[in-house]
Amino acid sequence: RGCKLVGCGSAVPGLQISNDDLAKMVDTNDEWISIRTGIRNRRVLSGKDSLTALAAEAAKKALEMAKVDPDDVDLVLMCTSTPEDLFGSAPQIQKVLGFKNNPLAYDITAACSGFVLGLVSAACHIRGGGFKNVLVIGADALSRYVDWTDRGSCILFGDAAGAVLAQACDSEEDGLFAFDLHSDGEGQRHLKATIKENETDHVLGTNGSAVGFPPKISSYSCIQMNGKEVFRFAVRAVPQSIEYALEKAGLTGSNIDWLLLHQANQRIIDAVATRLEVPSERVLSNLVNYGNTSAASIPLALDEAVRSGKVRAGHTIAAAGFGAGLTWGSAIIRW
Ligand code: ACO
Repeated sequence: RGCKLVGCGSAVPGLQISNDDLAKMVDTNDEWISIRTGIRNRRVLSGKDSLTALAAEAAKKALEMAKVDPDDVDLVLMCTSTPEDLFGSAPQIQKVLGFKNNPLAYDITAACSGFVLGLVSAACHIRGGGFKNVLVIGADALSRYVDWTDRGSCILFGDAAGAVLAQACDSEEDGLFAFDLHSDGEGQRHLKATIKENETDHVLGTNGSAVGFPPKISSYSCIQMNGKEVFRFAVRAVPQSIEYALEKAGLTGSNIDWLLLHQANQRIIDAVATRLEVPSERVLSNLVNYGNTSAASIPLALDEAVRSGKVRAGHTIAAAGFGAGLTWGSAIIRW
């Protein structure tokens, strides 16, 4: 039993913030941001917008492309680090889309690696768990956790959602050739948004039992990032991971059709492509318009490339995600 990709979709918020707009908020300029990152615009959810609705829109488009009846979906994987409900947002997507057969729906939290992990998880559920139609959604609203006074990080991020439908198939049609996934908790200090420190200590009695109310800890800090360290990590770990996955698939950089990396920084994308000897015309990139959209960036770029006719049926894609956790991983897939 194999797993193939049969549809994709994406959605972005209407509100656009350009580099010039950011220059009115912090001490920066379009030239600095463009040269260092490749980013010129990003989309951001406004106060009343819902990430869940954006994710549902992307998922609906993927189902339409796949011509799959929503009631035939038996699993929804929502890859996000910014859920609108602490207990998970995937069931809310199931509700918005009105799936009647109550498919299993759960969240996967792995920051910018979330979508690659979601794809691999979908394949495992299909190959070993008997699932037939798995929606894999990558959606994040990092704008809600950005420190808009920190010019070192606020220039990078945007909000978006993307989705693919993974479907069971015969093993000869299998569309996931190989994968490689990792994490490194030591590196978390370079990129994090941790729960806010408790301002008051527990009030404890002499025997160690609480005599006051437990403290209410209910919010997370803004994103704290050491950009240089994250950059170094990405250009070291990502090519290694892709090379390993390519080797497992019996391929090299020269016989893939597309390199599709998490859209964090054009300089990272270029460095990885050079190391893998993939020419720039076979590298997918759309971060100029959207910035770093975390778990959404890979399916968003894939959807644009499929709908524009760049990526066609049968093409081989080396996809890789990397980011907070630290987490990273790659998947060699066939569209
Ligand atoms: N505008 C103008 N100047 C700036 C800005 C800005 N927006 N930000 C920083 N600077 C200044 C700094 O203050 C510094 O000035 P100084 O030399 O006088 O001290 C100078 O520019 C250089 O700053 P660096 O931080 O060294 O710049 P760098 O070349 O490292 O670029 C960047 C910074 C773009 C953040 C880069 O390090 C990067 O992209 N790193 C990867 C980050 C990333 O991808 N994170 C997301 C991972 S995915 C996830 O999981 C969320």
